[in-house]
Amino acid sequence: MEQYVIKGGNPLVGEVEIGGAKNAALAILSAAVMTDETVTIENIPNVRDTNVLLNAIEEIGARVERIDSHTVRINGSFIRDFNVDNEYIRKIRASYYLIGALLGKYKRAEVALPGGCDIGSRPIDLHMKGFRALGASVDIRYGLVMASAEKLTGTHIYLDKVSVGATINIMMAASMADGKTIIENAAKEPHVVDVANFLNSMGANIRGAGTDVIRIVGVEKLHKTEYSIIPDQIEAGTFMLAAAATKGDVTVKNVIPKHLEAISAKLLEVGCEVEEFDDAVRVVSSKPLRHTQVTTLPYPGFPTDMQPQMAVVLGISGGTSTVTESIFENRFKYVDELTRMGAEIKVESNIAIIGGVSQYTGARVNAPDLRAGAALVIAALAAEGLTVVDDIYYIERGYEDFETKLSSLGALIEKVATEKEIQKFSLKNSYKVS
Ligand code: UD1
Repeated sequence: MEQYVIKGGNPLVGEVEIGGAKNAALAILSAAVMTDETVTIENIPNVRDTNVLLNAIEEIGARVERIDSHTVRINGSFIRDFNVDNEYIRKIRASYYLIGALLGKYKRAEVALPGGCDIGSRPIDLHMKGFRALGASVDIRYGLVMASAEKLTGTHIYLDKVSVGATINIMMAASMADGKTIIENAAKEPHVVDVANFLNSMGANIRGAGTDVIRIVGVEKLHKTEYSIIPDQIEAGTFMLAAAATKGDVTVKNVIPKHLEAISAKLLEVGCEVEEFDDAVRVVSSKPLRHTQVTTLPYPGFPTDMQPQMAVVLGISGGTSTVTESIFENRFKYVDELTRMGAEIKVESNIAIIGGVSQYTGARVNAPDLRAGAALVIAALAAEGLTVVDDIYYIERGYEDFETKLSSLGALIEKVATEKEIQKFSLKNSYKVS
């Protein structure tokens, strides 16, 4: 089992290039099989979740040609199997996008019930409601979501809850339905817009993505395209908060600053300087950090996927802060781990009450899920002493070359697999820390 060993105390300084958005890529790779023509997709993050999905797409018969580590060509004309199930796909949440894609194109899909990070109950009832409204019959049997339809017919769908996954999934299936579909109370996340743009570049007719009403006129066929995925808002935000926590000065490059506004606003509130450029954002943390209140909300609110990283920053900010998690009920599992590093956090229902301490101290901790894992790495970078983060498998699901990017900013971090390597790292780096 690989681990990160980190010697904290170095401010992160420099520039870091942000990759393509994982959550956009997962939907776009699935949607790519909806045409029989060849689709080229660029700026795909080379992370575990995208690779698992590409393998699953290959397994059902699509041709997947990896042009380089961030570009693939996909041809879905060879798909003969509508059953997507293997031990890896069962672990990723976004496998559900293959239901919308296959159902739209072939009117049939059997996909393993999605897994993903254990951050609370993650039902797919809204996805199913949407497919049923389009005329499909949808059941869960033998651990699979089984969906089929004679034909899909456009309809009016109101989502009871704002759901990124359901919005995108219904949008995909409706793109190849007969007639017009209206999705109300749609999610407005940047990757919803990216998927709509991708589908439109294949000939779909989707209007209104990015607002809460999306209108789709179904088309019979989709065609080839070449498309580049938007930058990852959450990867960028993670580096911005790492800069804040380590008293650093980091410029995140290749980003869309507008997508980062909720994060930038909180960084300004806690006392950082944030400078926006056309496609970059610089965060400077030179003053003592101050407490604030954060509530996670659908876009353009503060993203739930940044909640643990923000809590880590607030844990070393003066005064008492609160973090309210309004999307997933079980997203405070990292709190016990952070407490081992000296944090003072009490969780009451969906609110974390955080009393800022002057500094974290290194400890042995486990990454409980993807974003919480990244948050513990940030805490370790800011901590005094040595931290070992176990279960970095989770972090690798969504961050490409995390340790390499952090090292290039001056972090003392290595991926190791044995106690001996941890000791070697400790000896090598003990003299380097200021
Ligand atoms: C996606 C992201 C995830 C992010 C989340 C919220 C992917 C692969 N994952 O997850 O990283 O944290 O958006 O921005 O893109 N819900 C239902 N019924 C459903 C679907 C959702 O009740 O059928 C609820 C969920 O339990 C949650 C809320 O709706 O409380 C939002 O979930 P949703 O936006 O669907 O999240 P995901 O698409 O699973």
